[in-house]
Amino acid sequence: ELVACMGTALKGRKVIVTAGGTREPIDPVRFIGNHSSGRMGFAIAKAAVLAGADVTLICGSTDNLTTPAGVSRRIDVNSTRDMKEAVDAYYDDCDLVVKAAAVADYRSAAPAKDKIKKNDDVLTINLEKNPDILYGLGQRKTHQVLVGFAAETTNVLAYGQGKLKKKNLDMLVANDVSVKGAGFQGDTNIGTLLFPDGTMEELQQMTKFELAEIIVDRAAKLVAAKCA
Ligand code: CTP
Ligand code: CA
Repeated sequence: ELVACMGTALKGRKVIVTAGGTREPIDPVRFIGNHSSGRMGFAIAKAAVLAGADVTLICGSTDNLTTPAGVSRRIDVNSTRDMKEAVDAYYDDCDLVVKAAAVADYRSAAPAKDKIKKNDDVLTINLEKNPDILYGLGQRKTHQVLVGFAAETTNVLAYGQGKLKKKNLDMLVANDVSVKGAGFQGDTNIGTLLFPDGTMEELQQMTKFELAEIIVDRAAKLVAAKCA
């Protein structure tokens, strides 16, 4: 049944999709995390499978989502550095990376070996910056198409354009997570696709799967244009 409705836009292409949130340990029982549900990334993985791609799905924490049928491999990771290691391992011979994951920007500089007890009135945890996975991919991009996400609460398009340029991306999906019907939880999203030539495609509210189909369609065209 899956094969019956398969498209060919990404046939023979290797695609990496990252989904969910990364988690950084504070001590053995606690972590720094975020509200990512993994739904947008899983919808993209499904749309890429349906377009005929060989999909590697690299997952942080999700809302217990089932792996979409036809995904070639799923790799579960915890921290940002774990996610970077997994993405880097599959990057060189892939054609397209879609980084839908919500990545923890900072980690505890020194996670406690034992559970922290609530002794002090003020607890200070020193954080250090994590590597920027997507920036690293952009630095050593050869033939790959790179698609990033930017969940913002203000100056959505300006921040989005800045990230597109800084990370050397081919497309960026910007969305305003402060708007109802968009963002981390729920089944709908409102995105604007930004491109390096300054053009953009503003999209209406739609389901995450409908948005995923559009993202995969546009990304497949970029892949075809690069590898013509
Ligand atoms: N990203 C990444 N590695 C990080 C942080 C972000 O690969 N350490 C990726 C995300 O998966 C997303 C894109 O970069 O596709 C933009 O993430 P975002 O958090 O919006 O941007 P940042 O560069 O982290 O900037 P800030 O959080 O300050 O807005
Ligand atoms: Ca960030």
